[in-house]
Amino acid sequence: MHTIVLATQKGGSGKSTLAIGLALAAKQAGFTVRLIETDPQGTLSNWQRRRNNDDIVVEPIYHAADFAPRLKMLAESGLQLAIVDTAAGLSAATTAAIRYSDLCLIPARPSVADIEATVSTLSVARAWKRPYSFVLNQTPIRGQRIDNAANTLAEEAALDLSDVLARPLIVMRNDHQDSLANGLAVSEFAPNGKSTEEIRGLWQWVETRLNISATNVLIEQVISAANGMLHVVAERTADEATNLAS
Ligand SMILES: Nc1ncnc2c1ncn2[C@@H]1O[C@H](COP(=O)(O)OP(=O)(O)OP(=O)(O)O)[C@@H](O)[C@H]1O
Ligand SMILES: [Mg+2]
Repeated sequence: MHTIVLATQKGGSGKSTLAIGLALAAKQAGFTVRLIETDPQGTLSNWQRRRNNDDIVVEPIYHAADFAPRLKMLAESGLQLAIVDTAAGLSAATTAAIRYSDLCLIPARPSVADIEATVSTLSVARAWKRPYSFVLNQTPIRGQRIDNAANTLAEEAALDLSDVLARPLIVMRNDHQDSLANGLAVSEFAPNGKSTEEIRGLWQWVETRLNISATNVLIEQVISAANGMLHVVAERTADEATNLAS
């Protein structure tokens, strides 16, 4: 199971909207998905109540201590993807969600306040050595402001922009607000719209990023196996040297 967390200290940057958009895009791409709500504000539960369909379960987990055992159970049940929506600010539940994530997505509008507010989330992701990426959301269609925001985020992370800034950028479009009001995701509300194209593109980007993480794990395993073999060879050589000497 892959666990994706949407987190940032700043309220209103699009955590819940992107969680719902990505959940439906992933479901339509063939994944089994559950939405996990750690925000007592209840945006996802309210959305689920407006939805005349129980195809996507919204599960509240408000206590940090419940997080790891519940994720373990979900993984054992065969679920493929858990998408976690967190509250603004930085709570114990958010920290737990980031700690057990495979990818932490940090949404930010292209404004100084939003970008500054990413720092604390970034520190938590780094402290737990979790992969993270920024998602620029509610952007104008194009302009200098977006380039500046993208470059600032890349500098903040001190990493290659292509790894750290999710693509495509998600433009400010009414479809996002209207779909949520109707208990839908954009890909259901406006299947042929630009908003859907962007959210589907974002899901594909996330999928690729998760595969990249899986490759990294594989490389780590190969390195650790090679280290193990070197260790055995070194021990044998030492034994042989001792035998020769005696
Ligand atoms: N790309 C977008 N285009 C237009 N409106 C958007 C977009 N993304 C989010 N919104 C709107 O912005 C508002 C805030 O979004 P959302 O509730 O997803 O943010 P949040 O980070 O979850 O907020 P909170 O911190 O309060 O939980 C909502 O009204 C939502 O519909
Ligand atoms: Mg929210």
